[in-house]
Amino acid sequence: MSYIEDVKIRKILDSRGNPTVEVEVYTMSGGFGRAAAPAGKSTGKHEVKAYPQGEIDAGIKYLKERLDNFIGMDATEQREIDHLLHEIDGTENFSMLGGNVAVAVSLAVAKAAADVLGLSLYQYLGGIYASNIPKPVGNVLGGGKHAINGTIIQEMLSVSLEDDAWNNIYANSLVHKRLGEKLRKRFPDLSIGLGDEKAWVAPLDDEEAISLVVESIDEVKEETGFDIRPALDFAASSFYRNGKYKYHERELNEEEQIEFAEKLVKDYGIYIVEDPLHEEDFEGFAELTKRIGHLAYVVGDDIFVTNSKRLERGIEIGAGNAILIKPNQIGTLTDTYETVKLARENGYACMISHRSGETCDTSISHLGVAFGCEFIKTGAIGGERIAKLNELVRIEEEIRGE
Ligand code: PGA
Ligand code: ZN
Repeated sequence: MSYIEDVKIRKILDSRGNPTVEVEVYTMSGGFGRAAAPAGKSTGKHEVKAYPQGEIDAGIKYLKERLDNFIGMDATEQREIDHLLHEIDGTENFSMLGGNVAVAVSLAVAKAAADVLGLSLYQYLGGIYASNIPKPVGNVLGGGKHAINGTIIQEMLSVSLEDDAWNNIYANSLVHKRLGEKLRKRFPDLSIGLGDEKAWVAPLDDEEAISLVVESIDEVKEETGFDIRPALDFAASSFYRNGKYKYHERELNEEEQIEFAEKLVKDYGIYIVEDPLHEEDFEGFAELTKRIGHLAYVVGDDIFVTNSKRLERGIEIGAGNAILIKPNQIGTLTDTYETVKLARENGYACMISHRSGETCDTSISHLGVAFGCEFIKTGAIGGERIAKLNELVRIEEEIRGE
């Protein structure tokens, strides 16, 4: 019944107007699943390759020439499908097929299997006890590789902690709005733009930017009456050169960068701090976690790249206490799950995440619920971001039986 009858792959546009892949899986019983891959810009060095030698067409061709392998396979055998993806690729890092092609196939198969069983994706993957809706973490102000003339710290975000998906996503969007008003007042003669993830971009010093975000959060917190906290994604690898972290006005060495992150967490009540150090600095992550792990989530993105081997290395020395989960960093649903499982077993919190280049695919909302992730990072506004946020509201409604 759930045997795969056909697999299609095509190019579609992502939110930056770049080509990405979309895959459709059809089963013999009429089951259907469609999934698209996102695209990173601030990518980790150890992620799997998105496409063979950067060529999307080569990845599509590679899959098309091997599609026969998938026909007749059972869509509910996710591990076998994901094993086959590795097998037809034959490399350690999906450099023949491309991790983006692999992840789109992997997710489309899971969606087709869920469809055959008449289940939502989160129910299929998470079972009947999957009921935790991750708290949304929304990017409201930024720069780094996601914008020109923005802050050096890539993302400044709002985390709403009410026990209701709608209240949380709306509160994050209110913070975004409030911040926009403040920026217009602060820069009356400038037209303030948005970065790749629809966060505001303004010519502000990093700390000044954080204060404005915190002010906006505090005002919205006052109005809504529930807890909202600030978060940061430094994406520190993107401004680390020759042993120094390069800000607008100054350079910090590794110890000074740890002190700076510690100071920001303490001074501004930062709740989540992602990639405060560059992607090879496991020891720095461990040191910072020792200092502030009781106050904040120290999240590894580029350092762990959703890879269980790298996470294992982090666990051994206490680097971080949370991990960012991006399925296309590792290439399959099964690999993603294994990393989440390892994180869970070792007390690391999980934040499922979009990429800066996105489509309206909502898989990560379902994965976030199925895998019991504490957080979901998927923007505050913007069509391709709200597609996922609105899906959370629908999932919550279904879980509550409303
Ligand atoms: P991306 O980065 O541009 O690679 O998606 C987002 C992030 O650093 O979290
Ligand atoms: Zn990041």
